[in-house]
This record gives sequence, structure tokens and C-alpha cells, in this order.
Amino acid sequence: MRERLTKLLAEIKEKLETIEDQNSLNVLRSYALGRKSEITNLMAALKDLPPEEKPLMGKLINEAKQKLEAYFETKKANLQAKVLQEKLAKEAVDVTLPGVEFSSGSNHILKTVIEDFENFFIGQGYSIKEGPDVELDYYNFEMLNIAKDHPARAMHDTFYVDAKRLLRSHTSPVQARTMLESAGKPIKIICPGKTYRRDEDDQYHSHQFMQIEGLVIDEDITMADLKGTLLSFIKYYFGEDKEIRLRPSYFPFTEPSVEVDIFDGEKYVEILGAGMVHPNVLKMGGYDPDKVQGFAFGIGLERIAMLKYEIDDIRHFYTNDVRFLNQFKGGKR
Ligand code: PHE
Repeated sequence: MRERLTKLLAEIKEKLETIEDQNSLNVLRSYALGRKSEITNLMAALKDLPPEEKPLMGKLINEAKQKLEAYFETKKANLQAKVLQEKLAKEAVDVTLPGVEFSSGSNHILKTVIEDFENFFIGQGYSIKEGPDVELDYYNFEMLNIAKDHPARAMHDTFYVDAKRLLRSHTSPVQARTMLESAGKPIKIICPGKTYRRDEDDQYHSHQFMQIEGLVIDEDITMADLKGTLLSFIKYYFGEDKEIRLRPSYFPFTEPSVEVDIFDGEKYVEILGAGMVHPNVLKMGGYDPDKVQGFAFGIGLERIAMLKYEIDDIRHFYTNDVRFLNQFKGGKR
């Protein structure tokens, strides 16, 4: 019996050496310790031994059994460690490899300029208005004191959709629309948006461009309010040391009218048209020119952006060259 036990232990030990996975280990375990195993047979044979041998043999069989159990536990732990080791090796991440770069979009530079305007003017109590790009002749011209055969229409040669509709040549029609909507109440708005003119495209002209219109109507509004508003915006946007110059000009919808220039370090550059809202325009919009006054301005957005960011060609805004656009990622250059 002792020999059988020694042989059994040796046999199982040897077989365990060749086991590589959990399944084969389970199979070997039931062979070594299961109901039909040698150990079970030996236990059963105990009862045929002479009584004086029984205790010792019983002890030996139990010890052998415990040894076997221990062998299997150790092997099991080794196998698990091995599996873990392999898994870790397979999933290892080389943190020194270069990452994958995601390309992300960003605001167009003109959008950023509009937001800067909005931040300033909202802070001054203005609200933002919008109007349609395809506009009625009625709002684009007539409501702005530019009758059918008015020579000022020549300054605004644009794209007609049909006899009554056109691509708006300025953002001023939003003035007329807002006046009608406001039914005689005070107005304080800015309206950014696209505008169109039948210009030949060159470094400074584009058939599509953007403006920001401003309109304030209330009692006791004067030219000084207009000048103060424009000057404080220019200082906010370009710096405290900036100065503006007002030149007399002509627009059918303002009287008096001015053109405003800003000094770019070398020369004055025209950036906007403005003036006191013409009494005819106030009347058509439902306001009494004897009771209220207003000022209005229309700023060329690209001009402002070109000055601020030293951009030398207006066509850059519309030709979508990513080398240009990427310079403004994150909003500021
Ligand atoms: N609408 C004018 C233009 O585009 C600018 C302007 C707006 C002038 C408001 C006066 C008042 O040229």
C-alpha cells in the first residue's frame, strides 16, 4: 500500500508538469482525487487490513490526499498567474507612442468679430436683430427714403431675384423692419449680417460681405450720442489710444450723414457710414420726428477684421483656405 501511495504521488507530480491550462488540470484532478481514483480505491481497501495496520495506513492515505490537494492548489495558482501575465503583456500600452490627433473645427474669424461686437453692444443695453438676406425692394430702398428712380440706387447695384426681391445691399432694411415692429417704442439694436453688391472682386471688394447695422431711437438723441457710441466701441475694440474722424457724407436715410475713418498708424481708413435718422424714414417707420430722434450706423465687418488682424485681402474670408482659417483657431490670433 505504501508503494502504491508513493507511486501515485510521483505519477501525479509528473503529470502536473505537463499541464498547461485549467481544463486539463480539472481532468487530472478528478483522475487523482475523484470517486474512481486510486486514492478512493486505497481508502476502500483499508477495511480489509488487519486492525493494527489500519490507523497508520489511514493516516498515510490522508497525508497523501492532502499533498495531492496542495499540488493542485499550487498548480492552479501558477496557471492563473500565467494567464494574467499573458493578458498584461498583450494589453500593454506604449505610452511613448505618438497620440492620434483629432482635427476640430472652430469659429470663422468673422463670427468671432461679430461676437466681439455683440459683447460690447449687449453690455450697452442693445439687443440683436436679424433680417433676411433675400430682401424686398421695399425695405432695402423705399422705406429708407430711396425712391424707385433715386440716383442713390446706383451706389447699391445688387443681385435681383425678381422685380420686387433682391439680395440686400446693406443691413439698413433691418432698421425699417424693426421700426414697424416696435410700434413707436424706443429702439436700441444692432444687426449683423451678410450683404451683397455687384462689385468686381478685388483685394478690397467682395460681391458678398458683412455689415453690422446699429439703430437707436428715443427722445433727445443727438449726434453727440452717435459719436460717443462709435468712439467708445473703437477704443474698446482697437485700444484706448485710437482716434476716429467724422467726414460729412450723404445717405438718403440719414441727415446729417457722416463717414467715419479710423487712423491705422499711417492713414485714415474708412470703416463705416452713419448719421441721424432722416425724418422721412422715422415717419414711414411710424415715429414722430418732432418727438423722437435716432442715429444709425453701418459698419463694414471685413474692414474691421482686416485692420484688427492685419489681413491684406478681403477674399481670404470667403475662399476657405484652411491655412488662413487655422490662424484664427480658438478665436484670437
Ligand atoms: N447702409 C449704409 C451703407 O451700406 C451705411 C449706413 C448705415 C449709413 C446706417 C448710415 C446709417 O453704405
